[in-house]
Amino acid sequence: MSERIVAADQLDEDVETPSLRPQTLDEYIGQDHVKEMMDIFIRAAKNRHESLDHVLLYGPPGLGKTTLANIVANEIGANIKISSGPSIEKSGDLAVLLTGLEPGDILFIDEIHRLPRVVEEVLYPAMEDFAIDLIVGKDETSRSIRVELPPFTLIGATTRFGDLTSPLRERFGVVHKLEYYDQDALEKICARTARIYDAEIEKASIVEVARRSRGTPRITNRLFRRIRDFADVLNDGVISIKITKLALDKLGIDPLGLDQKDYDYLRGLIDNYNGGPVGVESLASSISEEVTTIEDVYEPFLLKLGFIQRTPRGRVATEKAYKHLNKPFQGGLFK
Ligand code: ADE
Repeated sequence: MSERIVAADQLDEDVETPSLRPQTLDEYIGQDHVKEMMDIFIRAAKNRHESLDHVLLYGPPGLGKTTLANIVANEIGANIKISSGPSIEKSGDLAVLLTGLEPGDILFIDEIHRLPRVVEEVLYPAMEDFAIDLIVGKDETSRSIRVELPPFTLIGATTRFGDLTSPLRERFGVVHKLEYYDQDALEKICARTARIYDAEIEKASIVEVARRSRGTPRITNRLFRRIRDFADVLNDGVISIKITKLALDKLGIDPLGLDQKDYDYLRGLIDNYNGGPVGVESLASSISEEVTTIEDVYEPFLLKLGFIQRTPRGRVATEKAYKHLNKPFQGGLFK
């Protein structure tokens, strides 16, 4: 897949600038409800000198799940160990991670829905009783020994809440969905990023970047960096509204933040399948994209815009999508 500027998956550039990451709940903009709740739970755990209950964060990519996990660790004053579902292949890998924890530590597992089932089963007693059962020895001499773990907090993150098994879901005491950010929060994030980069930016540019960020701070920051490149080369570093619009147009980002891949998706749905309903697999292969990428990255935002619907018979383009693409809508009549 070619690199999309609006793709919400993480690129090196995003992690190479850790100074952009807020370090405290106070610095973290948006997600007010989640922030308020986490603040209470963190303070309660600290007052009782207990480890925080396990936390599950879910929602579309780029909304700050990893950032929030780091902030929680920072606020508690605990170490954080970072891993991910696909990289923990065997029970032994998880056992190594768990037995290396210090009391109160945070274990962050990104994409937790991708943990292999056998690994997940090791996690159950670890979460519930702070213990794991290890099998030692071979064949007829093998036996299970229980290894106690220090109290710790698991923070799991996933883009696919529905893919989590219920035994795993039920073991999290705190579960939060991160929502797309509103215009105001994205403007604050963009202004903060400009401040950190010490860049001169017009208010109208901030508004425009926020408007085209698809509710996603990671995209705000990525668009900001690309526009700043244009401003540095063409406008003495000043991020004017003129240079902002020029850069966004050259990057192929439309006024709603949609890019070429979204257009491929919508045109595929409308032109090849008469607006649907069509199964996601057919749609994915017609635009050469992975089903999971379509489901996790493109569709949540198109759903939010009201451009598509997920029906039991497949994906359907709405009248709004036809209008946005300037195509005549013959809607629903013969379907
Ligand atoms: N950078 C990325 N996400 C952010 C957020 N939620 N608050 C502040 N800065 C951010």
